[in-house]
Amino acid sequence: MTALNAAVREIADEMASRPDRGEVADYIPELARADPGAFGIAVIGPEGIAAAGDADAPFSIQSVSKVFTLTLALGLAGDRLWNRVGREPSGNPFNSIVQLERERGVPRNPFINAGAIAVTDVILSGHQPREALGEILRFLQFIAEDETIYIDDAVAKSERRTGFRNAALANYMKSFGVLENPVDFTLGVYFHHCAIAMSCRQLAMAGRYLAHSGRNPTTGFNVVSPERARRINALMLTCGHYDGSGEFAYRVGLPGKSGVGGGILAIAPGKASIAVWSPGLDANGNSHLGRIALEMLAKRMGWSIF
Ligand code: DON
Repeated sequence: MTALNAAVREIADEMASRPDRGEVADYIPELARADPGAFGIAVIGPEGIAAAGDADAPFSIQSVSKVFTLTLALGLAGDRLWNRVGREPSGNPFNSIVQLERERGVPRNPFINAGAIAVTDVILSGHQPREALGEILRFLQFIAEDETIYIDDAVAKSERRTGFRNAALANYMKSFGVLENPVDFTLGVYFHHCAIAMSCRQLAMAGRYLAHSGRNPTTGFNVVSPERARRINALMLTCGHYDGSGEFAYRVGLPGKSGVGGGILAIAPGKASIAVWSPGLDANGNSHLGRIALEMLAKRMGWSIF
């Protein structure tokens, strides 16, 4: 057994038995059905894949999808994207509206809800919602090399029924001219891409291009340029955990993106793509055990970028 395999197994064993598991998100009613006892981890490192626990169970990736929509929107709009969304940490919760008034409807970064909705609007750019959503899903299936990745319609519907804050954010941005498409179209695509279901194994596969300078290390296919991969990683480090981004950088030392489904994608540049999942969240909406597991892994493998 490799050192990585041993670390992954031990971490999964410890996480399975920990009593402190955080709180499962319930503001999207369908997410409240997740089992707080679940924990999965998958790491694609230099010697192949190491996985343990519930690594093959699909979960709602939620805001982790924002890494992939950002990648697609940068491909479509290039640096023009930055006219519609900023690149600074917000220091506010993921669903906050306060900065939008002072900053004329331009969200602080692509990972808070307002920013991700603006990014989705760029991908939509005049297309039908179904086409834009198809693009996003096919991109994920392509980079993960897995056509079984799907959208959980029950989660999307549940979020659409209860997504009043996201509707407020979108309407507010629309009033400043930051969104170009009908608000309902943009929100529909946003709710559905957040409802994509993936396992840790699939998510770690999808993240490989960020760990390898924009390239799929197996096929050699360039997903993005090395410069773009570096910049996406920089945004994940500074903004990927909302107002918990500083703490995540301090403890884990890796670019990472969390979602309220309890998933985290973390990148050890040049070394590994890592996905963890445990549905219980901390006060900032980030997976409680997911963060602890990543802290242990980064320490054991010496993977912190600092
Ligand atoms: O818009 C929402 O509230 C969810 N679809 C995504 C939020 C999320 O995952 C925040 N991450 N921790």
